[in-house]
Amino acid sequence: MPGRIPQSFVNSLIERVDIVEVVGSRVQLKKAGANHMGLCPFHDEKTPSFHVYPDGHYHCFGCGAHGTTIGFLMDLDALTFPEAVESLAAMLGVEVPREGGEARRVDPGIYEVLNAASKQFKAWLRHHDEAPSAVAYLKDRGLSGEVARDFGIGFAPPGWQGLKTALATFGEERLLAAGLLAKGDTGRTYDRFRQRIVFPICDARGRVIGFGGRIFGPETDGQPKYLNSPETDVFHKGQEVYGLFEARRARNRLDTVVVVEGYMDVVALAQYGIRNAVATLGTAIGEAHFARLYKVVDRIVCCFDGDDAGREAAWKAVNAAFPTLSAGRRLDFVFLPDGEDPDTLVRKQGADAFNALVAEAASVGRYFLERLQIGLDLGTVDDRATLGELALPLISQLPDGELRAVLLRELARLTRTDLAHLEQRVAGSSSRRASSATARSRTESKLATTLLKLLVRRPQTLAGLDDSERRQLLLAAEGTLQEVLRFLAEQPQADTTTLLGRFVGDPVHPQLASLAAEEVLPGAASENDCRDCARRYLNERNLQLLRDDYQQVGTDDAMRRHLDAKRQQTTGVDDRQNAPM
Ligand code: UTP
Ligand code: MN
Repeated sequence: MPGRIPQSFVNSLIERVDIVEVVGSRVQLKKAGANHMGLCPFHDEKTPSFHVYPDGHYHCFGCGAHGTTIGFLMDLDALTFPEAVESLAAMLGVEVPREGGEARRVDPGIYEVLNAASKQFKAWLRHHDEAPSAVAYLKDRGLSGEVARDFGIGFAPPGWQGLKTALATFGEERLLAAGLLAKGDTGRTYDRFRQRIVFPICDARGRVIGFGGRIFGPETDGQPKYLNSPETDVFHKGQEVYGLFEARRARNRLDTVVVVEGYMDVVALAQYGIRNAVATLGTAIGEAHFARLYKVVDRIVCCFDGDDAGREAAWKAVNAAFPTLSAGRRLDFVFLPDGEDPDTLVRKQGADAFNALVAEAASVGRYFLERLQIGLDLGTVDDRATLGELALPLISQLPDGELRAVLLRELARLTRTDLAHLEQRVAGSSSRRASSATARSRTESKLATTLLKLLVRRPQTLAGLDDSERRQLLLAAEGTLQEVLRFLAEQPQADTTTLLGRFVGDPVHPQLASLAAEEVLPGAASENDCRDCARRYLNERNLQLLRDDYQQVGTDDAMRRHLDAKRQQTTGVDDRQNAPM
């Protein structure tokens, strides 16, 4: 894991880079006064409302997209913060320094090593002395040579040094960095994948970025069934899916993907001609997965087990997907019969049976409302109110669009409430907060502390926010809060201990350690409370930043009108008289 990017470097990068040049390389811009404008890349439009300002930010008056040069790259190319910094630095031809170590950037050689490893595993499946047992295993699971070839399936023989020896010319360091070797307590390195069927995992461009390996054979005791590559510079489990490249290659126009749980499900479905299945890599499907998949397809069908765990996973998926469900995107759910996975089902019942399940999949809207009604008696006033309380915060996560409108109409009918009232609550759900300017600055700093405390005690809180919120938080935050957010952006899996560990020796460590020891919010804070706190903070900060902008561009009419509208929308209060004009 590379070290942190120093803030001073990010600042100097932002200063040195010309936003007009960066944006202009992706969007056709025309000069308009001191600024530039063009067609917004974040929404469909015929007349330009996308403005780029020489001070380093952009704003779209059509869809509200705004941010800095780094934010632009993050949004347009679906990059994480460090990736966007790397990309920007590459444009300037400079290396990104990393704290706590020598300068590091993604070593392009890592792709070569991974590719060579994949070739070696494939060759071993054909020629190795021990390969017949692997081939027999695959045959027994119904896989043809053709599908094994399409997915580049390979074999890692038993023994500890096979790959290390075969790829020795690359050097131990590179093999380690690629995740192909593991290091024992004594410091000695050895092959990570042994006695396993190996599935190469490719990125969208078809480059091998990691592997998954399934154990087979007699002496498998104590070993996990599947082993995945560790996180490396190029392999990020929380974002990648298995099989997407293969699905795109197999179909001219890929419009739907079916998300299943395992490698074997993907290849078994392919064996039966269903070539559009993908799998997460041993993690639950999250917002980053949805965001990535929706860049490629308009319809995602998530396939879950029909048991309680499957339903739980489906509900989490709904929550993760909501912020990404903008107009034109569809999400459906299939629940498999108890005890089956896509692999066993398709082998027992054939492709038609599986396709029929996909065709009858429940839409996310239907599933959402049905699930929320479980255990409620809508004949009672109380339960109707409960339904509203449960549904509204979630519906507010949806981008404005048909799904949101439909769900609100349906909710109004079910709860026998006035639709306009619900619409108002959804529109204002992020407001109802700040009141006056003084109260605002007080709550701002208090909120910053609360949020910091939350993040220290429950770093996973961030996972409950959508990508763009996380990004905005990072851009909006200052000081220690920003440091913590930056760290969590790079290490989303970090827990409190890891987080505190990172700041050992840092002047802020005592503060963080004492925050970690305090109770977050009175009583048991729910995940929603945490999310809510982050959003409230963001709101307050945005407001403050808008206020600063307002001061700077006070003469720009369009901007002023926009800020006024935004301010009203954010606070629900028209405090124009307080504006520093
Ligand atoms: P399952 O345990 O459901 O296995 O894991 P499966 O997909 O049905 O595999 P077969 O049919 O027994 O071969 C589903 C996914 O969870 C991850 C892998 O990504 C796997 O494909 N997993 C599972 C691991 O990462 N490690 C494990 O030890 C087990
Ligand atoms: Mn299985």
